[in-house]
Amino acid sequence: MKKQTSRMSGGRIMASLIVLLGSLAYVMVFAVINGTLGFLCSMGVTVFGAVGIAKALGEQIALSYGWIIGLTVGLGVMRGALRFVEQYCNHYIAFRLLAVLRDKIFTALRRLCPAKLESKQKGSIISMLTSDIETLEVFYAHTVSPICIAITVSTAVFLFVGFVSSWYLSLVALAGFIAVGIIAPLVSSSLMRDAGVKYRARFSAFNAYFLDSIKGIKDIVLNNAGDIRKNEVDERSEELLKHTHELKYKIANATAFTEFTVSFMTLVATAVAVALVLAGKISVGKAIIGVVAIFGSFGPVIAISALPGNLTQTFASGDRVLKLLGEKPVVERIENGIKFDFDDLEVKDLYFGYEKDNAVLEDICMNAKRGEIVGIVGESGCGKSTLLKLLMRFWSKDGGEILYNGNEIETINSDNLLDNVTMVSQSTYLFDETIADNLRIAKEDATDEELENACRQASIHEFICQMAGGYDTKAGALGDNLSAGEKQRIGLARAFLRGSGLILLDEPTSNVDSINEGIILRSLAEQKKDKAIILVSHRESTMAIADRVYRIDKGRISEVAR
Ligand SMILES: Nc1ncnc2c1ncn2[C@@H]1O[C@H](COP(=O)(O)OP(=O)(O)OP(=O)(O)O)[C@@H](O)[C@H]1O
Ligand SMILES: [Mg+2]
Repeated sequence: MKKQTSRMSGGRIMASLIVLLGSLAYVMVFAVINGTLGFLCSMGVTVFGAVGIAKALGEQIALSYGWIIGLTVGLGVMRGALRFVEQYCNHYIAFRLLAVLRDKIFTALRRLCPAKLESKQKGSIISMLTSDIETLEVFYAHTVSPICIAITVSTAVFLFVGFVSSWYLSLVALAGFIAVGIIAPLVSSSLMRDAGVKYRARFSAFNAYFLDSIKGIKDIVLNNAGDIRKNEVDERSEELLKHTHELKYKIANATAFTEFTVSFMTLVATAVAVALVLAGKISVGKAIIGVVAIFGSFGPVIAISALPGNLTQTFASGDRVLKLLGEKPVVERIENGIKFDFDDLEVKDLYFGYEKDNAVLEDICMNAKRGEIVGIVGESGCGKSTLLKLLMRFWSKDGGEILYNGNEIETINSDNLLDNVTMVSQSTYLFDETIADNLRIAKEDATDEELENACRQASIHEFICQMAGGYDTKAGALGDNLSAGEKQRIGLARAFLRGSGLILLDEPTSNVDSINEGIILRSLAEQKKDKAIILVSHRESTMAIADRVYRIDKGRISEVAR
Protein backbone atom coordinates (compact mmCIF):
# COMPACT_ATOMS: atom_id res chain seq x y z
CA MET A 1 0.00 0.00 0.00
CA LYS A 2 1.11 3.56 -0.62
CA LYS A 3 3.17 5.23 2.02
CA GLN A 4 2.77 8.89 2.81
CA THR A 5 5.84 10.67 1.51
CA SER A 6 6.83 14.17 2.58
CA ARG A 7 5.94 17.19 0.53
CA MET A 8 8.15 18.43 -2.26
CA SER A 9 9.69 21.90 -1.91
CA GLY A 10 7.78 24.88 -3.30
CA GLY A 11 10.42 25.48 -5.96
CA ARG A 12 10.30 21.89 -7.21
CA ILE A 13 6.52 21.88 -7.31
CA MET A 14 6.52 25.11 -9.27
CA ALA A 15 9.15 23.81 -11.69
CA SER A 16 7.24 20.55 -12.22
CA LEU A 17 3.99 22.41 -12.75
CA ILE A 18 5.64 24.60 -15.36
CA VAL A 19 7.00 21.50 -17.11
CA LEU A 20 3.39 20.30 -17.34
CA LEU A 21 2.67 23.39 -19.45
CA GLY A 22 4.44 21.78 -22.41
CA SER A 23 3.99 23.81 -25.57
CA LEU A 24 1.66 26.19 -23.73
CA ALA A 25 4.83 27.66 -22.21
CA TYR A 26 5.19 29.79 -25.38
CA VAL A 27 1.76 31.28 -24.79
CA MET A 28 2.81 32.05 -21.23
CA VAL A 29 5.93 33.85 -22.43
CA PHE A 30 3.70 35.86 -24.78
CA ALA A 31 1.39 36.66 -21.86
CA VAL A 32 4.30 37.85 -19.75
CA ILE A 33 5.61 40.07 -22.58
CA ASN A 34 2.18 41.64 -23.03
CA GLY A 35 1.69 42.04 -19.29
CA THR A 36 5.07 43.71 -18.89
CA LEU A 37 4.55 46.06 -21.82
CA GLY A 38 1.05 46.80 -20.47
CA PHE A 39 2.43 47.82 -17.10
CA LEU A 40 5.14 49.92 -18.70
CA CYS A 41 2.48 51.64 -20.82
CA SER A 42 0.40 52.43 -17.76
CA MET A 43 3.46 53.85 -16.07
CA GLY A 44 4.22 55.70 -19.27
CA VAL A 45 0.94 57.60 -18.88
CA THR A 46 2.01 59.11 -15.55
CA VAL A 47 5.65 59.47 -16.58
CA PHE A 48 4.72 61.46 -19.70
CA GLY A 49 2.47 63.56 -17.49
CA ALA A 50 5.55 64.25 -15.38
CA VAL A 51 7.56 64.96 -18.54
CA GLY A 52 4.93 67.58 -19.46
CA ILE A 53 5.29 69.19 -16.03
CA ALA A 54 9.08 69.04 -16.29
CA LYS A 55 8.91 70.80 -19.67
CA ALA A 56 6.64 73.46 -18.15
CA LEU A 57 9.24 73.92 -15.42
CA GLY A 58 11.79 74.72 -18.06
CA GLU A 59 13.46 71.33 -18.50
CA GLN A 60 15.03 70.74 -21.92
CA ILE A 61 12.62 68.22 -23.47
CA ALA A 62 12.82 67.49 -27.18
CA LEU A 63 9.13 66.56 -27.42
CA SER A 64 6.43 69.13 -28.18
CA TYR A 65 3.38 69.35 -25.88
CA GLY A 66 1.29 67.84 -28.69
CA TRP A 67 3.58 64.81 -28.82
CA ILE A 68 3.57 64.46 -25.04
CA ILE A 69 -0.25 64.48 -24.91
CA GLY A 70 -0.47 62.17 -27.91
CA LEU A 71 1.96 59.70 -26.36
CA THR A 72 0.14 59.80 -23.02
CA VAL A 73 -3.22 59.02 -24.64
CA GLY A 74 -1.68 56.45 -27.00
CA LEU A 75 -0.01 54.60 -24.14
CA GLY A 76 -3.29 54.59 -22.20
CA VAL A 77 -5.07 52.93 -25.12
CA MET A 78 -2.21 50.47 -25.67
CA ARG A 79 -2.30 49.58 -22.00
CA GLY A 80 -5.91 48.42 -22.42
CA ALA A 81 -5.14 46.33 -25.49
CA LEU A 82 -2.02 44.75 -23.98
CA ARG A 83 -3.82 43.93 -20.75
CA PHE A 84 -6.58 42.27 -22.75
CA VAL A 85 -4.10 40.11 -24.65
CA GLU A 86 -2.27 39.20 -21.43
CA GLN A 87 -5.46 38.16 -19.64
CA TYR A 88 -6.68 36.32 -22.72
CA CYS A 89 -3.44 34.33 -22.97
CA ASN A 90 -3.39 33.52 -19.24
CA HIS A 91 -6.92 32.24 -19.24
CA TYR A 92 -6.40 30.39 -22.48
CA ILE A 93 -3.47 28.60 -20.83
CA ALA A 94 -5.35 28.02 -17.61
CA PHE A 95 -8.43 26.50 -19.22
CA ARG A 96 -6.49 24.47 -21.77
CA LEU A 97 -4.42 23.21 -18.91
CA LEU A 98 -7.48 22.32 -16.86
CA ALA A 99 -8.51 20.05 -19.69
CA VAL A 100 -5.00 18.61 -19.98
CA LEU A 101 -4.76 18.06 -16.22
CA ARG A 102 -8.16 16.37 -16.01
CA ASP A 103 -7.11 14.14 -18.85
CA LYS A 104 -3.79 13.31 -17.19
CA ILE A 105 -5.42 12.61 -13.83
CA PHE A 106 -8.08 10.44 -15.42
CA THR A 107 -5.40 8.51 -17.32
CA ALA A 108 -3.39 8.13 -14.12
CA LEU A 109 -6.46 6.87 -12.27
CA ARG A 110 -7.21 4.36 -15.00
CA ARG A 111 -3.67 3.10 -14.60
CA LEU A 112 -4.00 2.95 -10.81
CA CYS A 113 -7.49 1.50 -10.72
CA PRO A 114 -9.24 -0.42 -9.43
CA ALA A 115 -6.95 -0.91 -6.44
CA LYS A 116 -6.71 2.85 -5.90
CA LEU A 117 -10.45 3.42 -5.82
CA GLU A 118 -10.98 0.41 -3.59
CA SER A 119 -8.70 1.97 -1.01
CA LYS A 120 -9.54 4.38 1.74
CA GLN A 121 -8.18 7.29 -0.31
CA LYS A 122 -11.27 7.42 -2.49
CA GLY A 123 -12.53 10.61 -0.81
CA SER A 124 -9.30 12.49 -1.31
CA ILE A 125 -9.18 11.49 -4.97
CA ILE A 126 -12.59 13.01 -5.56
CA SER A 127 -11.52 16.20 -3.83
CA MET A 128 -8.42 16.22 -5.99
CA LEU A 129 -10.40 15.92 -9.17
CA THR A 130 -12.47 18.93 -8.25
CA SER A 131 -10.82 21.44 -5.94
CA ASP A 132 -7.14 20.79 -6.60
CA ILE A 133 -7.50 21.24 -10.33
CA GLU A 134 -9.40 24.50 -9.79
CA THR A 135 -6.63 25.72 -7.48
CA LEU A 136 -4.05 24.99 -10.14
CA GLU A 137 -6.04 27.11 -12.56
CA VAL A 138 -5.28 30.04 -10.26
CA PHE A 139 -1.62 29.11 -10.32
CA TYR A 140 -1.37 29.16 -14.08
CA ALA A 141 -3.61 32.16 -14.66
CA HIS A 142 -2.63 34.37 -11.74
CA THR A 143 0.71 33.33 -10.28
CA VAL A 144 3.44 32.60 -12.80
CA SER A 145 2.97 35.61 -15.01
CA PRO A 146 2.58 38.17 -12.16
CA ILE A 147 5.95 37.01 -10.81
CA CYS A 148 7.64 37.30 -14.21
CA ILE A 149 5.96 40.64 -14.86
CA ALA A 150 7.05 41.98 -11.47
CA ILE A 151 10.66 41.04 -12.15
CA THR A 152 10.79 42.56 -15.64
CA VAL A 153 8.84 45.73 -14.78
CA SER A 154 10.94 46.38 -11.67
CA THR A 155 14.15 45.91 -13.64
CA ALA A 156 12.88 48.25 -16.38
CA VAL A 157 11.91 50.93 -13.83
CA PHE A 158 15.26 50.59 -12.07
CA LEU A 159 17.12 51.18 -15.35
CA PHE A 160 14.79 53.94 -16.56
CA VAL A 161 15.01 55.96 -13.35
CA GLY A 162 18.77 55.44 -13.23
CA PHE A 163 19.41 56.62 -16.79
CA VAL A 164 16.81 59.39 -17.00
CA SER A 165 16.79 60.71 -13.44
CA SER A 166 19.27 59.48 -10.83
CA TRP A 167 20.85 56.19 -9.78
CA TYR A 168 20.28 57.18 -6.13
CA LEU A 169 16.54 57.19 -6.80
CA SER A 170 16.92 53.88 -8.64
CA LEU A 171 18.45 52.33 -5.57
CA VAL A 172 15.58 53.60 -3.42
CA ALA A 173 13.14 52.01 -5.88
CA LEU A 174 15.10 48.75 -5.83
CA ALA A 175 15.01 48.67 -2.01
CA GLY A 176 11.23 49.22 -2.18
CA PHE A 177 10.75 46.42 -4.73
CA ILE A 178 12.77 44.01 -2.61
CA ALA A 179 10.90 44.98 0.57
CA VAL A 180 7.43 44.69 -1.00
CA GLY A 181 7.97 41.90 -3.49
CA ILE A 182 10.37 39.61 -1.61
CA ILE A 183 10.71 40.40 2.10
CA ALA A 184 7.02 41.13 2.80
CA PRO A 185 5.75 37.94 1.10
CA LEU A 186 8.41 35.81 2.82
CA VAL A 187 7.70 37.27 6.26
CA SER A 188 3.94 37.13 5.90
CA SER A 189 3.96 33.63 4.45
CA SER A 190 6.04 32.36 7.37
CA LEU A 191 3.73 34.16 9.81
CA MET A 192 0.63 32.89 8.07
CA ARG A 193 1.73 29.36 7.27
CA ASP A 194 0.49 27.85 10.53
CA ALA A 195 -2.76 29.76 10.55
CA GLY A 196 -3.30 28.94 6.87
CA VAL A 197 -2.61 25.25 7.26
CA LYS A 198 -4.86 25.07 10.35
CA TYR A 199 -7.60 27.00 8.62
CA ARG A 200 -7.57 24.79 5.54
CA ALA A 201 -7.50 21.61 7.60
CA ARG A 202 -10.50 22.82 9.62
CA PHE A 203 -12.23 24.04 6.52
CA SER A 204 -12.00 20.71 4.72
CA ALA A 205 -12.87 18.80 7.90
CA PHE A 206 -15.93 20.99 8.33
CA ASN A 207 -16.94 20.54 4.69
CA ALA A 208 -16.53 16.80 4.96
CA TYR A 209 -18.62 16.70 8.15
CA PHE A 210 -21.30 18.89 6.62
CA LEU A 211 -21.48 16.86 3.41
CA ASP A 212 -21.54 13.67 5.42
CA SER A 213 -24.44 15.03 7.45
CA ILE A 214 -26.37 15.92 4.31
CA LYS A 215 -25.67 12.54 2.71
CA GLY A 216 -26.80 10.77 5.85
CA ILE A 217 -29.75 13.04 6.59
CA LYS A 218 -32.21 10.20 6.16
CA ASP A 219 -30.52 8.16 8.87
CA ILE A 220 -30.25 11.23 11.09
CA VAL A 221 -33.99 11.81 10.82
CA LEU A 222 -34.81 8.13 11.27
CA ASN A 223 -32.77 8.03 14.47
CA ASN A 224 -34.11 11.37 15.67
CA ALA A 225 -30.54 12.58 15.99
CA GLY A 226 -31.18 15.95 14.29
CA ASP A 227 -30.59 18.17 17.33
CA ILE A 228 -27.35 16.51 18.31
CA ARG A 229 -26.07 16.77 14.75
CA LYS A 230 -27.18 20.38 14.45
CA ASN A 231 -25.37 21.36 17.65
CA GLU A 232 -22.24 19.66 16.43
CA VAL A 233 -22.46 21.51 13.08
CA ASP A 234 -22.90 24.80 15.00
CA GLU A 235 -19.93 24.10 17.23
CA ARG A 236 -17.67 23.18 14.35
CA SER A 237 -18.86 26.20 12.42
CA GLU A 238 -17.99 28.48 15.38
CA GLU A 239 -14.56 26.95 15.61
CA LEU A 240 -13.99 27.42 11.90
CA LEU A 241 -15.03 31.06 12.30
CA LYS A 242 -12.40 31.48 15.00
CA HIS A 243 -9.71 30.20 12.66
CA THR A 244 -11.06 32.38 9.85
CA HIS A 245 -10.71 35.43 12.13
CA GLU A 246 -7.17 34.50 13.00
CA LEU A 247 -6.19 34.06 9.36
CA LYS A 248 -7.95 37.22 8.17
CA TYR A 249 -6.29 39.20 10.96
CA LYS A 250 -2.90 38.05 9.76
CA ILE A 251 -3.76 38.75 6.12
CA ALA A 252 -4.91 42.26 7.08
CA ASN A 253 -1.63 42.82 8.93
CA ALA A 254 0.36 41.67 5.93
CA THR A 255 -1.61 43.96 3.60
CA ALA A 256 -1.13 46.87 5.98
CA PHE A 257 2.60 46.17 6.11
CA THR A 258 2.79 46.15 2.31
CA GLU A 259 0.82 49.40 1.99
CA PHE A 260 2.95 51.00 4.67
CA THR A 261 6.17 49.96 2.95
CA VAL A 262 4.95 51.33 -0.39
CA SER A 263 4.00 54.68 1.17
CA PHE A 264 7.23 54.80 3.14
CA MET A 265 9.39 54.10 0.11
CA THR A 266 7.64 56.74 -1.98
CA LEU A 267 8.25 59.21 0.86
CA VAL A 268 11.90 58.20 0.97
CA ALA A 269 12.10 58.59 -2.82
CA THR A 270 10.58 62.07 -2.58
CA ALA A 271 12.98 63.02 0.22
CA VAL A 272 15.98 61.73 -1.72
CA ALA A 273 14.80 63.58 -4.84
CA VAL A 274 14.46 66.84 -2.89
CA ALA A 275 17.91 66.34 -1.35
CA LEU A 276 19.39 65.68 -4.80
CA VAL A 277 17.79 68.82 -6.21
CA LEU A 278 19.00 70.90 -3.25
CA ALA A 279 22.49 69.51 -3.65
CA GLY A 280 22.33 70.52 -7.30
CA LYS A 281 22.82 66.94 -8.52
CA ILE A 282 19.66 66.83 -10.70
CA SER A 283 17.16 69.32 -12.04
CA VAL A 284 13.61 69.63 -10.64
CA GLY A 285 12.17 68.22 -13.85
CA LYS A 286 14.30 65.07 -13.71
CA ALA A 287 13.50 64.67 -10.03
CA ILE A 288 9.77 64.81 -10.83
CA ILE A 289 10.10 62.25 -13.63
CA GLY A 290 12.06 59.90 -11.35
CA VAL A 291 9.70 60.18 -8.40
CA VAL A 292 6.58 59.80 -10.55
CA ALA A 293 8.04 56.71 -12.24
CA ILE A 294 8.70 55.19 -8.81
CA PHE A 295 5.21 56.11 -7.55
CA GLY A 296 3.57 54.18 -10.32
CA SER A 297 5.88 51.17 -10.28
CA PHE A 298 4.77 49.22 -7.23
CA GLY A 299 1.69 47.62 -8.82
CA PRO A 300 3.42 44.41 -10.00
CA VAL A 301 5.29 43.81 -6.71
CA ILE A 302 2.12 44.47 -4.69
CA ALA A 303 0.49 41.74 -6.81
CA ILE A 304 3.23 39.37 -5.67
CA SER A 305 2.80 40.27 -2.02
CA ALA A 306 -0.85 39.22 -2.33
CA LEU A 307 0.18 35.74 -3.51
CA PRO A 308 1.44 33.81 -0.47
CA GLY A 309 -2.00 33.05 0.91
CA ASN A 310 -2.82 31.30 -2.35
CA LEU A 311 0.59 29.85 -2.89
CA THR A 312 0.67 27.51 0.09
CA GLN A 313 -2.65 26.12 -1.06
CA THR A 314 -1.47 25.94 -4.65
CA PHE A 315 1.65 24.05 -3.63
CA ALA A 316 -0.39 21.61 -1.57
CA SER A 317 -2.70 21.01 -4.54
CA GLY A 318 0.20 20.81 -6.98
CA ASP A 319 1.96 18.37 -4.70
CA ARG A 320 -1.05 16.03 -4.51
CA VAL A 321 -1.68 16.14 -8.25
CA LEU A 322 1.98 15.60 -9.15
CA LYS A 323 2.23 12.69 -6.71
CA LEU A 324 -0.82 11.04 -8.22
CA LEU A 325 0.55 11.51 -11.74
CA GLY A 326 3.78 9.87 -10.67
CA GLU A 327 2.31 7.11 -8.54
CA LYS A 328 3.12 3.51 -9.40
CA PRO A 329 0.05 1.31 -9.73
CA VAL A 330 -0.38 -1.58 -7.31
CA VAL A 331 -1.07 -3.76 -10.33
CA GLU A 332 0.88 -3.01 -13.51
CA ARG A 333 -1.03 -3.27 -16.78
CA ILE A 334 0.15 -5.99 -19.09
CA GLU A 335 0.23 -4.86 -22.71
CA ASN A 336 2.13 -7.57 -24.53
CA GLY A 337 0.90 -10.58 -22.63
CA ILE A 338 -0.68 -13.84 -23.68
CA LYS A 339 -4.15 -13.79 -25.26
CA PHE A 340 -6.61 -16.57 -24.56
CA ASP A 341 -10.20 -17.61 -25.08
CA PHE A 342 -11.64 -18.84 -21.80
CA ASP A 343 -12.15 -22.55 -21.33
CA ASP A 344 -11.20 -23.19 -17.73
CA LEU A 345 -9.93 -21.63 -14.55
CA GLU A 346 -7.72 -23.26 -11.98
CA VAL A 347 -6.72 -21.62 -8.69
CA LYS A 348 -3.87 -23.25 -6.76
CA ASP A 349 -2.74 -22.44 -3.20
CA LEU A 350 -3.82 -18.81 -3.58
CA TYR A 351 -2.68 -16.58 -0.75
CA PHE A 352 -3.65 -12.93 -0.26
CA GLY A 353 -3.91 -10.22 2.39
CA TYR A 354 -4.73 -6.50 2.07
CA GLU A 355 -2.16 -5.86 4.77
CA LYS A 356 1.10 -7.63 5.39
CA ASP A 357 0.88 -10.60 7.75
CA ASN A 358 -2.89 -10.44 7.80
CA ALA A 359 -4.07 -13.00 5.28
CA VAL A 360 -7.67 -12.81 4.09
CA LEU A 361 -7.29 -15.89 1.88
CA GLU A 362 -4.91 -18.83 2.44
CA ASP A 363 -4.23 -21.93 0.33
CA ILE A 364 -7.29 -21.37 -1.83
CA CYS A 365 -7.70 -24.15 -4.42
CA MET A 366 -10.65 -24.21 -6.75
CA ASN A 367 -11.57 -24.58 -10.40
CA ALA A 368 -14.30 -23.81 -12.90
CA LYS A 369 -14.77 -24.65 -16.55
CA ARG A 370 -17.12 -23.85 -19.38
CA GLY A 371 -20.52 -25.42 -18.90
CA GLU A 372 -20.80 -25.21 -15.13
CA ILE A 373 -22.02 -22.93 -12.40
CA VAL A 374 -19.75 -22.88 -9.38
CA GLY A 375 -21.10 -21.51 -6.12
CA ILE A 376 -19.11 -19.86 -3.34
CA VAL A 377 -20.58 -19.45 0.13
CA GLY A 378 -19.20 -18.23 3.43
CA GLU A 379 -19.83 -15.81 6.24
CA SER A 380 -19.86 -12.10 5.63
CA GLY A 381 -16.28 -10.77 5.53
CA CYS A 382 -14.67 -14.15 4.84
CA GLY A 383 -13.19 -13.00 1.54
CA LYS A 384 -15.64 -14.03 -1.18
CA SER A 385 -15.62 -10.66 -2.96
CA THR A 386 -11.85 -10.51 -2.47
CA LEU A 387 -11.46 -13.84 -4.27
CA LEU A 388 -13.54 -12.62 -7.23
CA LYS A 389 -11.48 -9.41 -7.40
CA LEU A 390 -8.27 -11.43 -7.44
CA LEU A 391 -9.62 -13.45 -10.36
CA MET A 392 -9.96 -10.13 -12.21
CA ARG A 393 -6.51 -8.97 -11.03
CA PHE A 394 -7.82 -5.92 -9.14
CA TRP A 395 -5.00 -6.75 -6.73
CA SER A 396 -1.87 -8.83 -7.16
CA LYS A 397 -1.93 -12.09 -5.24
CA ASP A 398 0.70 -12.70 -2.58
CA GLY A 399 1.20 -16.37 -3.42
CA GLY A 400 -0.11 -19.34 -5.38
CA GLU A 401 -1.38 -19.52 -8.94
CA ILE A 402 -4.42 -18.36 -10.88
CA LEU A 403 -4.42 -20.14 -14.23
CA TYR A 404 -6.70 -19.40 -17.16
CA ASN A 405 -6.50 -22.20 -19.75
CA GLY A 406 -3.24 -23.05 -17.94
CA ASN A 407 -1.83 -19.52 -18.34
CA GLU A 408 -0.73 -17.70 -15.21
CA ILE A 409 -2.88 -14.55 -14.72
CA GLU A 410 0.20 -12.32 -14.42
CA THR A 411 1.20 -13.20 -17.99
CA ILE A 412 -2.15 -12.44 -19.61
CA ASN A 413 -2.84 -9.27 -21.54
CA SER A 414 -4.91 -6.96 -19.30
CA ASP A 415 -7.49 -6.05 -21.94
CA ASN A 416 -7.80 -9.67 -22.96
CA LEU A 417 -8.43 -10.69 -19.35
CA LEU A 418 -11.23 -8.13 -19.08
CA ASP A 419 -12.75 -9.43 -22.32
CA ASN A 420 -12.77 -12.97 -20.97
CA VAL A 421 -13.88 -12.34 -17.40
CA THR A 422 -16.77 -10.11 -16.37
CA MET A 423 -17.77 -9.32 -12.83
CA VAL A 424 -21.02 -7.98 -11.45
CA SER A 425 -20.04 -6.49 -8.12
CA GLN A 426 -22.21 -6.05 -5.04
CA SER A 427 -23.11 -2.51 -6.07
CA THR A 428 -23.76 -1.32 -9.59
CA TYR A 429 -23.04 2.28 -10.51
CA LEU A 430 -25.35 3.98 -12.99
CA PHE A 431 -24.04 6.99 -14.91
CA ASP A 432 -26.18 10.05 -15.45
CA GLU A 433 -26.96 8.90 -18.97
CA THR A 434 -29.78 6.97 -20.60
CA ILE A 435 -30.42 3.37 -19.60
CA ALA A 436 -29.29 2.32 -23.09
CA ASP A 437 -26.00 4.23 -22.70
CA ASN A 438 -25.56 2.72 -19.27
CA LEU A 439 -25.91 -0.74 -20.78
CA ARG A 440 -23.66 0.03 -23.73
CA ILE A 441 -20.61 0.60 -21.53
CA ALA A 442 -20.47 -3.20 -21.53
CA LYS A 443 -20.57 -3.36 -25.33
CA GLU A 444 -20.25 -0.11 -27.20
CA ASP A 445 -21.72 -1.27 -30.49
CA ALA A 446 -24.55 -3.41 -29.11
CA THR A 447 -27.73 -3.31 -31.22
CA ASP A 448 -31.10 -2.45 -29.65
CA GLU A 449 -32.01 -6.08 -30.02
CA GLU A 450 -28.96 -7.20 -28.07
CA LEU A 451 -29.79 -4.71 -25.32
CA GLU A 452 -33.33 -6.05 -25.08
CA ASN A 453 -32.16 -9.63 -25.01
CA ALA A 454 -29.70 -8.99 -22.20
CA CYS A 455 -32.36 -7.12 -20.25
CA ARG A 456 -34.86 -9.93 -20.71
CA GLN A 457 -32.30 -12.39 -19.37
CA ALA A 458 -31.70 -10.12 -16.39
CA SER A 459 -35.46 -9.74 -15.92
CA ILE A 460 -35.38 -5.97 -16.22
CA HIS A 461 -36.75 -5.49 -19.76
CA GLU A 462 -40.36 -5.10 -18.67
CA PHE A 463 -39.49 -2.63 -15.96
CA ILE A 464 -37.56 -0.47 -18.46
CA CYS A 465 -40.44 -0.59 -20.96
CA GLN A 466 -42.84 0.63 -18.29
CA MET A 467 -40.95 3.91 -17.96
CA ALA A 468 -42.15 6.75 -20.17
CA GLY A 469 -38.80 7.08 -21.92
CA GLY A 470 -38.10 3.34 -22.13
CA TYR A 471 -34.46 2.64 -22.88
CA ASP A 472 -33.89 6.37 -23.42
CA THR A 473 -34.85 7.29 -19.85
CA LYS A 474 -32.03 9.13 -18.12
CA ALA A 475 -30.78 7.13 -15.16
CA GLY A 476 -29.92 10.44 -13.46
CA ALA A 477 -33.50 11.64 -13.79
CA LEU A 478 -34.49 8.63 -11.72
CA GLY A 479 -31.94 9.71 -9.14
CA ASP A 480 -31.75 7.23 -6.35
CA ASN A 481 -35.25 6.12 -7.17
CA LEU A 482 -34.17 2.93 -8.86
CA SER A 483 -34.40 0.21 -6.27
CA ALA A 484 -31.34 -1.77 -5.29
CA GLY A 485 -32.80 -4.77 -7.09
CA GLU A 486 -33.40 -2.81 -10.29
CA LYS A 487 -29.85 -1.51 -10.29
CA GLN A 488 -28.58 -5.00 -9.62
CA ARG A 489 -30.49 -6.34 -12.61
CA ILE A 490 -29.09 -3.61 -14.86
CA GLY A 491 -25.65 -4.70 -13.66
CA LEU A 492 -26.51 -8.26 -14.63
CA ALA A 493 -27.78 -7.17 -18.04
CA ARG A 494 -24.43 -5.46 -18.58
CA ALA A 495 -22.63 -8.71 -17.80
CA PHE A 496 -24.85 -10.72 -20.16
CA LEU A 497 -24.28 -8.14 -22.88
CA ARG A 498 -20.55 -8.31 -22.50
CA GLY A 499 -20.56 -11.96 -23.50
CA SER A 500 -17.42 -13.09 -21.66
CA GLY A 501 -16.60 -16.75 -21.20
CA LEU A 502 -16.43 -16.44 -17.42
CA ILE A 503 -18.95 -14.45 -15.42
CA LEU A 504 -18.35 -13.66 -11.76
CA LEU A 505 -21.51 -12.77 -9.90
CA ASP A 506 -21.26 -11.29 -6.42
CA GLU A 507 -24.67 -11.70 -4.77
CA PRO A 508 -26.59 -11.18 -8.02
CA THR A 509 -29.99 -11.83 -6.51
CA SER A 510 -29.58 -10.44 -2.99
CA ASN A 511 -32.09 -7.65 -3.60
CA VAL A 512 -34.39 -9.45 -6.01
CA ASP A 513 -37.76 -11.06 -5.20
CA SER A 514 -38.33 -14.74 -5.84
CA ILE A 515 -40.19 -14.25 -9.15
CA ASN A 516 -37.38 -12.19 -10.64
CA GLU A 517 -34.82 -14.48 -9.07
CA GLY A 518 -36.45 -17.40 -10.86
CA ILE A 519 -36.16 -15.59 -14.21
CA ILE A 520 -32.53 -14.67 -13.58
CA LEU A 521 -31.59 -18.18 -12.49
CA ARG A 522 -33.24 -19.64 -15.58
CA SER A 523 -31.15 -17.29 -17.73
CA LEU A 524 -28.03 -18.32 -15.86
CA ALA A 525 -28.81 -21.99 -16.37
CA GLU A 526 -29.28 -21.26 -20.08
CA GLN A 527 -26.07 -19.21 -20.32
CA LYS A 528 -23.93 -21.88 -18.72
CA LYS A 529 -24.08 -23.94 -21.90
CA ASP A 530 -21.13 -22.04 -23.29
CA LYS A 531 -19.86 -20.19 -20.24
CA ALA A 532 -18.61 -20.70 -16.75
CA ILE A 533 -20.36 -18.83 -13.98
CA ILE A 534 -18.98 -18.32 -10.50
CA LEU A 535 -21.73 -17.34 -8.16
CA VAL A 536 -21.37 -15.86 -4.68
CA SER A 537 -24.56 -15.90 -2.69
CA HIS A 538 -25.99 -16.31 0.80
CA ARG A 539 -29.28 -17.53 -0.60
CA GLU A 540 -30.06 -21.22 -0.53
CA SER A 541 -32.49 -20.78 -3.42
CA THR A 542 -29.80 -19.21 -5.60
CA MET A 543 -27.19 -21.78 -4.67
CA ALA A 544 -29.56 -24.53 -5.76
CA ILE A 545 -28.59 -23.95 -9.40
CA ALA A 546 -24.86 -24.35 -8.73
CA ASP A 547 -23.29 -27.58 -10.01
CA ARG A 548 -20.62 -27.47 -7.31
CA VAL A 549 -20.27 -25.32 -4.21
CA TYR A 550 -17.18 -24.15 -2.30
CA ARG A 551 -17.28 -22.82 1.23
CA ILE A 552 -14.74 -20.27 2.49
CA ASP A 553 -14.17 -20.37 6.21
CA LYS A 554 -11.45 -18.50 8.14
CA GLY A 555 -9.56 -17.82 4.91
CA ARG A 556 -9.60 -21.44 3.74
CA ILE A 557 -11.75 -23.06 1.10
CA SER A 558 -13.32 -26.51 0.84
CA GLU A 559 -15.74 -28.06 -1.62
CA VAL A 560 -19.12 -28.79 -0.09
CA ALA A 561 -20.37 -32.33 -0.56
CA ARG A 562 -23.92 -32.27 -1.97
N1 LIG B 1 -9.88 -2.61 0.02
C1 LIG B 1 -9.74 -3.24 1.19
N2 LIG B 1 -8.72 -2.90 2.00
C2 LIG B 1 -8.55 -3.54 3.18
N3 LIG B 1 -9.34 -4.51 3.64
C3 LIG B 1 -10.38 -4.90 2.88
C4 LIG B 1 -10.63 -4.27 1.61
N4 LIG B 1 -11.73 -4.84 1.07
C5 LIG B 1 -12.14 -5.79 1.95
N5 LIG B 1 -11.34 -5.81 3.04
C6 LIG B 1 -11.45 -6.74 4.18
O1 LIG B 1 -11.21 -8.06 3.72
C7 LIG B 1 -12.09 -8.98 4.32
C8 LIG B 1 -12.86 -9.75 3.26
O2 LIG B 1 -13.73 -8.84 2.59
P1 LIG B 1 -14.71 -9.29 1.43
O3 LIG B 1 -15.35 -8.07 0.89
O4 LIG B 1 -13.95 -10.12 0.47
O5 LIG B 1 -15.77 -10.19 2.21
P2 LIG B 1 -17.06 -10.94 1.66
O6 LIG B 1 -16.86 -12.38 1.97
O7 LIG B 1 -17.31 -10.56 0.27
O8 LIG B 1 -18.20 -10.35 2.62
P3 LIG B 1 -19.76 -10.07 2.28
O9 LIG B 1 -20.45 -11.38 2.27
O10 LIG B 1 -20.19 -9.22 3.43
O11 LIG B 1 -19.81 -9.36 0.99
C9 LIG B 1 -12.98 -8.19 5.25
O12 LIG B 1 -12.48 -8.31 6.55
C10 LIG B 1 -12.85 -6.76 4.76
O13 LIG B 1 -12.99 -5.87 5.82
MG1 LIG C 1 -18.71 -9.44 -0.62
